Amino acid sequence: MRAASVIFALLFFTMVGSAQTAKPAAPAAKPAAKPAGQAPAKPAAGAAVRVTAKVQGNLAQVMRGILFPNSNIIFDAQNNDPTKKKADEQFGNPYGGWQNVENAAIALAEASNLLIIPGRVCSNGKPAPNAQPDWPKLVQGLRDASMASYKAAQSKNMDNIVDAAGTLTEACSACHDKYREKPNLSLRCTP
Ligand code: HEC
Repeated sequence: MRAASVIFALLFFTMVGSAQTAKPAAPAAKPAAKPAGQAPAKPAAGAAVRVTAKVQGNLAQVMRGILFPNSNIIFDAQNNDPTKKKADEQFGNPYGGWQNVENAAIALAEASNLLIIPGRVCSNGKPAPNAQPDWPKLVQGLRDASMASYKAAQSKNMDNIVDAAGTLTEACSACHDKYREKPNLSLRCTP
């Protein structure tokens, strides 16, 4: 009975959530002015928290923090058979071997989503090229190459991972050739 009502509650909130997506709720009434110094009222227990995708770093930081380390796991698998590798000792990572490669591929595929959320800037302060007509295709290239790497890791086959790593390199370069490799930093992120 208890479990059933939990499931119901989850379904209910999911439905409420999607209804809000379809039709934005009317703006909440402005809270009454409070005397200065009074702490803002705490939200009522159980009140829905609205959370949306949010930019936290510039494009170079996303590349250095997520794409670079995870693609290196895939590139390394070409030369060092993951079957023979133990889990990484650092931070006690228990996801070793091919599973580590699978996880890196998923991280890259998910990172593709970070390349399309609005509002990101590049390290030179220019807007990330989200609005350029070829950007979606370049991001999709990364997503496809990442999922090809995921399948290759699942197959635990060295030839497959070499192929997939090649495709991944091409996906990175296709975008870098256009938006990163410039005579100087100020020209980055422009066509
Ligand atoms: C859709 C376009 C796009 C894709 C795909 C892409 N990058 Fe980038 N990358 C950029 C741009 C643009 C910059 C420059 C960003 C800046 O200066 O803010 C960059 C910068 C970088 C940097 C930082 C370089 C520096 O100057 O510090 C690294 C590292 C990097 N990318 C790695 C990768 C890897 C690895 C992949 C593939 C797994 C990849 N990127 C895929 C567009 C892309």
